[in-house]
Amino acid sequence: MEPDLSRLGNNLVTKLHVLMKISQIYDSKNVALHQFIQESLQTINALIKKEGGLSLKIVKNDLFLNEHRLRYSVEGFTSFKYLLTQWKKRLIGEVIFKEPMDETTLREFVYAMMSLEEGREENASVFTELLANLSILSIEVNALEVFEGEEEGITLHKEDRREVAKKVFFETVGTIEEVITHIKGKQHADVRKLKRLAQKAVHLVMEDESILLGMTTIKNYDEYTFNHSVNVSIYSLAMGRRLGFSRKTLTELGIAALLHDIGKSRIPKEILNKPTSFDEGEWGLMKKHPLLGVEILLNLKQLGEINPRIVIGIFDHHLRKDFAGYPKLFRKKEVSLFGRIIQIADSYDAMTTPKNYRRTPYTPEQALAIMMRERGAKLDPILLKIFIGVVGIFPVGSLVLLNTHELGIVYKANPDPKWMDRPQVIIVERAGKKDVKKELIDLTKTDGAGQFKRSIVKTLDPNIYHIDIAKYFL
Ligand SMILES: [Fe+2]
Ligand SMILES: [Fe+2]
Repeated sequence: MEPDLSRLGNNLVTKLHVLMKISQIYDSKNVALHQFIQESLQTINALIKKEGGLSLKIVKNDLFLNEHRLRYSVEGFTSFKYLLTQWKKRLIGEVIFKEPMDETTLREFVYAMMSLEEGREENASVFTELLANLSILSIEVNALEVFEGEEEGITLHKEDRREVAKKVFFETVGTIEEVITHIKGKQHADVRKLKRLAQKAVHLVMEDESILLGMTTIKNYDEYTFNHSVNVSIYSLAMGRRLGFSRKTLTELGIAALLHDIGKSRIPKEILNKPTSFDEGEWGLMKKHPLLGVEILLNLKQLGEINPRIVIGIFDHHLRKDFAGYPKLFRKKEVSLFGRIIQIADSYDAMTTPKNYRRTPYTPEQALAIMMRERGAKLDPILLKIFIGVVGIFPVGSLVLLNTHELGIVYKANPDPKWMDRPQVIIVERAGKKDVKKELIDLTKTDGAGQFKRSIVKTLDPNIYHIDIAKYFL
C-alpha cells in the first residue's frame, strides 16, 4: 500500500472512531458536532476523490481499504479496535462511499449506523433502508461475512487474554514513545505509567507467556526503538520468570529492559538511522548510550521508582564478559544479572528485526545459531540456555516446512523440554498470493500407528515467502 493511502486510511479510521463515539454522547443536532464532521469530511472526501470511491471492509480481523489491507500505526490501534468491534457487533462488514459527501449525509450515516440493534442479522438491509429513507443513495452497506471456524478454534478461550495482551503491548509501545519524546524535549517523563504497564506485562507473562512472546513478532513498524524496547522487555520477563524472580523483581527487570536504550534519545536521529556503517566518531557516540541512559534515569523526577538494579542493568547491557563491549571500564566488573539477561534479549531482537529497509533480518534459527557461537565470551551460557527454552529451538513466529509439505508458523513452544522440537504450529495455506490462517496443530500428535502426524523439516525465511508473521499473532 502506498504510504499516502495508508496514512489517509489510518486517518479515516481515527476520524470515524471519533464520530461514532461522539454520536453516543451528543444528539445529531448538537452544534458541537459541526467541527468534528468537517474534519472527517476532509479526510473522507480526499480519499474518495483520490481513489474515485471508497470501500472500507472487514475481513476477519483486518480492515481493507479498497482491497488493500490497512496496517494500523501504534496510535491507530484503539481506533481500529473500536471500529472493528462496533461494526462486528452490528454485523456490518463493508461500507462503500461512492461520491464525496456533505455534512448532513455524513452525520445521518453515522447516527443511522449507531442506531442499529446489536447482533441483528438483517442489519445491512435495515441500514440500507434507513439510508434510502434519508435519500442517501451514495453510500452502500454490506453485511459482515463470517468466516468458517473464525469464531472458534485457535483462540476462543484465550481471546480475552489476548485482547488484554494486545492492549498492554501497544500501550507500552506508545508510552515508551512518549517517554522518549519527553526526554528529548527536556520535559519530565512519567515513569510511573511505565511501571504500571510493566506490572501488567509481568502478570500476563505469569499467566501465559506465549501470548506476549507472539507479539514480539510484530516487527513491521517504523518505530523501531519503541518496538524493540518492548520486545526486549517481553523476552527478559520470560527469562526472569524461569529464573524464579518475584513479581517485584520481574517488574524491575521489565522496566530496566524497557528503558535499556533510553540513552539513544540523546543521540541525533541521523546517526541512529544511518543506513551505512558508522565512522569512528559516530561509533564513539553510539557507545555512550548506556551511560547516557544512566544519566537520564538519575535525573528523573520520580527517581523513587527507579531501583539501583535497574540503573546498573542499563549501564551493563553492552558490557561483555570478555570486556570487548562498552562502556570501557578501568577496573574489572562482573556484568549484573539484569545486564546479562537484557544482553541476550537485546541481541536476539536486534538480529531478527529489519533495522532499515534494506537489510534482511536473520531468521530466529540463524540468530540463535550466532548467539550460540558467541556464548561464553559474550553471552552468559546458562542464561542463553534458558532463553532457548523460552523461545524454543523453533522460536515462536518461525516459519517452518513440515514433512507433509505444508507451511507452518510456530505458535507456541511446547512446555515439555522433551518436545522442544514439537511446538504448536498454525498451518498456513497459500491461496493465490494471500496466506490464510488455517488450523492450529500440535506436533506431538500421532496417528493410529504411533507415528507423528507431522514433523518440522526445516525453518524457512518468511521474507522470501512474503508472509507477514505478525498477522497471526494479532
Ligand atoms: Fe543498547
Ligand atoms: Fe537495544
